[in-house]
Parts: sequence; structure tokens; C-alpha cells
Amino acid sequence: MKTYRIAAIPGDGIGNEVIPAGIEVLGKAAEGFRLEFEPFDWSSQRYQQTGRYIPEGGLERLKKFDAIFFGAVGAPDVPDHVSLWGLRLPICQGLDQYANVRPARVLAGVTSPLSGGKAIDWVIVRENTEGEYSGAGGRVHTGLDNEVAVEVSTFTRSGVERIHRFAFELARRRPRKHLTLVTKSNAQRHGMVLWDELFYAVAKDFPDVKTERILVDAMTTRMVLNPAAIDTVVASNLHADILSDLAAALSGSLGIAPTANLNPERRFPSMFEPIHGSAFDITGKGVANPIATFWTAALMLEHLGEGAAAARIMRAVEATTAKRIFTPDLGGNARTRDVTAAVIAAL
Ligand code: IPM
Ligand code: MG
Repeated sequence: MKTYRIAAIPGDGIGNEVIPAGIEVLGKAAEGFRLEFEPFDWSSQRYQQTGRYIPEGGLERLKKFDAIFFGAVGAPDVPDHVSLWGLRLPICQGLDQYANVRPARVLAGVTSPLSGGKAIDWVIVRENTEGEYSGAGGRVHTGLDNEVAVEVSTFTRSGVERIHRFAFELARRRPRKHLTLVTKSNAQRHGMVLWDELFYAVAKDFPDVKTERILVDAMTTRMVLNPAAIDTVVASNLHADILSDLAAALSGSLGIAPTANLNPERRFPSMFEPIHGSAFDITGKGVANPIATFWTAALMLEHLGEGAAAARIMRAVEATTAKRIFTPDLGGNARTRDVTAAVIAAL
């Protein structure tokens, strides 16, 4: 039987609650294939004990897997930039997972804060290896009055072109075939202008995809006031980071939003994670919403070529949300294990 090897990295906080729930649901949904999970204890706890999130040779070990199922990273006693640059970014950048895909939709039974929320059916494509997250820059005269901090966004022609091409291909596969380019090329006149230019160059290869260009600030109002006008979106690392939190909130809760960090050429494994983060305020209480992780699990199965099992998970998830079996973030009082049991029963 076809067996996929999955590296499971629950990480920090509620990652340790939602990833086990996701593994249970994946086990139930797998039919005609097997999933073999190998657990990795890479976390802030490990960092505090050993000084490293990823042990020597760790990335090389990851390369042998078919996919990575990731929880969250971030702890109250480790600065956020240390934990992010210790675990998640080295994986995304080191395994060239340049296409970050973030679907947003209002699931059955879920209420959007927007009256027109049912119109939300978006996929945000986020550049995931460079731009504002490239890590270039530095600090000079640290701690002195004349201290300088330089944070450089790096946009490469090849990096921008490939994310545009990926977004066009994705938009082409969706019924509306519509792609919105989000930049801030009026104020950021170098990198963002390159984004605009390359977008229209790539567009020539996709005459069947309708395009639109909008500035990132105007995009926030568009998302709130005219959600139906949006289908597929492509944006830089930071802009799409911000827009995807807004998208999650408008679709009902950050607790349902999934993401895929893809290496589309499959030279390296891709990584799948809920976007909510470690959520230390609710860690250990058993109330984390596992829906984002289940949706993430479905994205992973799709990437592995198991579309039927992915669709089964999403049907079971919506059968559960339609019954309003909700954790507190969605206004209910169900616990992680209640939602998990309901999804497994629906499967
Ligand atoms: C996300 C998160 C991360 C990001 C954080 C945890 C650094 O907000 O996945 O959207 O900004 O990339
Ligand atoms: Mg974010």
C-alpha cells in the first residue's frame, strides 16, 4: 500500500494539542494509503535545554519526508524573533517553500462578522522566502544614542516571477479565474515596482486569467466592503501575512485558518500548519480549535495527491461546524476533543 512519511513537529503551545488531533483525523481519513508519522520534539523547550531549535543536520533529516505537519512556534520566555528564526523560517527558507497558500472561506454554520461574509471564497498566495522576511540588515552602535537599525526587503527577479507564475496557475484552476495583485508600489518604488512589472509580464502567459492590481491599504477596505470582488490574491511576504489574518477574522476565527508552505517543484517536502500560532493564553486548557489543523491536514493530503481523502476531511469538518460544535473562539463551549470526536464520527 502507498505509504507517505510525515514529519510531525507540534512545536510550542497549542501545537501540542492540535497536531495530535490532526493525526487522529488523518488516520481515520486515510483509505487506500497509509500515513506514517515520525514525531520531532523541535520546540522552545528544546531550545532552552540545548540552545537550538533544530539540531545539527536536522534540515537534512527533514528532506527525506513526503511532508511536514507543523503546529506552532513561540513561547512567552523566548523573544518571538528568536523562536521564529530558530525554527519556522529556517524550514521555509531552507526547504525553498516559496509558495504560502492561505484559503479563506466561511464554513457551514460559522458566522462572519461581515454581513456579506458568505461571499468570502479567497485564496491568498504569499511569497514565503524573501521580501520583508529576508532577514537582511543589521544593527550598528547597539544601545547607544546613535543606534541604527537597517531592515532590508529583498526582492529577486526569480523569486517574484515564480510566485506570480504559481499564483496564475492556481487562479486558472479556480472557477472564477481571477487574480488580484497586491503591492504598495506607489510608496515602495523599487521592489514593489518590480512586483508589478513581473506580474504583467507573467500575465501574458495566462490570457484566460482576469487580473486586477490594488494597493495593500485599499485591499483591506475591499476585503471588508466588497468581499465578492476577490478570488485569488498574490502579495509579498509581509503584506500577505497581514491580509491573511484579516481574511481569517472575516471568515469567522483565526482558529479555522489553514496554510500550506509549498515547494511546488517538489525538490523538498512542503510544510502544512494552522496559522493561529502557539496561543499561550489558552495552552493546556483543552479548548484550542482543531479545525484549522484539520483543514491544514486536508491541504496536505491534496498536495500528496490524495484529493478524495482531503475532500472527506472537509466534508466531515463542515458537517461538524454546521452542527455548531464550536470551541470558544467561535462562540461555543466545546473542547478540542469534542470537535475532534465529532469530525471522526462524521468520517
Ligand atoms: C503567520 C504568522 C507568522 C508570520 C509569525 C508567527 C511569525 O503570523 O504564519 O502568518 O508572520 O509568518
Ligand atoms: Mg501571520
